[in-house]
Amino acid sequence: MSESKTWDAVDDYFSGHLAPDDEVLRAALRDSEAAELPHVNVSAPQGKLLHLLAQLQGARTILEIGTLGGYSTIWLARALPADGRLISLEYDPRHAEVASRNIARAGLEKLVEVRTGPALDALPQLADENPPPFDLVFIDADKANNANYVEWALKLTRAGSLIIVDNVVRGGHVADIGSTDPAIRGTRAAIELIGAHPRLDGTAVQTVGSKGYDGFALARVLG
Ligand code: SAH
Ligand code: DHB
Ligand code: MG
Repeated sequence: MSESKTWDAVDDYFSGHLAPDDEVLRAALRDSEAAELPHVNVSAPQGKLLHLLAQLQGARTILEIGTLGGYSTIWLARALPADGRLISLEYDPRHAEVASRNIARAGLEKLVEVRTGPALDALPQLADENPPPFDLVFIDADKANNANYVEWALKLTRAGSLIIVDNVVRGGHVADIGSTDPAIRGTRAAIELIGAHPRLDGTAVQTVGSKGYDGFALARVLG
């Protein structure tokens, strides 16, 4: 078996036992596909990891940057209590529309608000509303802005909050010091910000799976 076929097989095995799908998750992916959204949603085991981290965090409020069709949104929002709140920011109105239908089908429309537009416009607006601090922030949008999103996440969280950044490895390119790819430069800036910031303590983990070779960064907000 080729390496990537093995990664698929292992993800299928893990999903079946640990992150089983259901009609709502299947329909979310089916409708995302029908609307020709890019296939870049988190995998089922990764979605389950987000769900478990939100639960471990006791999260009542979650901020997501990068909704796509709402697949990761559903995994995260299912960890919230009945009076919880998730705000998800999405640039593309077509993606936001698919996501809103998927979220409604999941029965999560009371907990989840999708805001359409560039996140760097939505974030200052959100900050102006003085929302209660978010317990968890999931950053998964345009990678060039990853460091900007970590900065905003810091403004919108509290000591003890968790910040997660998706796709920080990108086949290993994150280690290219001289990369001119804005996505890699943005991700390197985010990693270096997490490492240097006095109010952040973090790590990053390389992963393989049905989405190939990638990884995520985790950072805890300090007091
Ligand atoms: N979190 C999703 C995947 C998100 S893919 C999941 O795992 O299911 C990245 C999304 O970020 C895309 O839908 C893209 O349209 C959106 N995006 C790109 N640039 C953005 C920006 N500047 N502001 C907000 N969203 C953006
Ligand atoms: C891409 C974006 C993602 O959020 C992801 O998880 C994988 C790939 C991309 O834009 O290529
Ligand atoms: Mg991603």
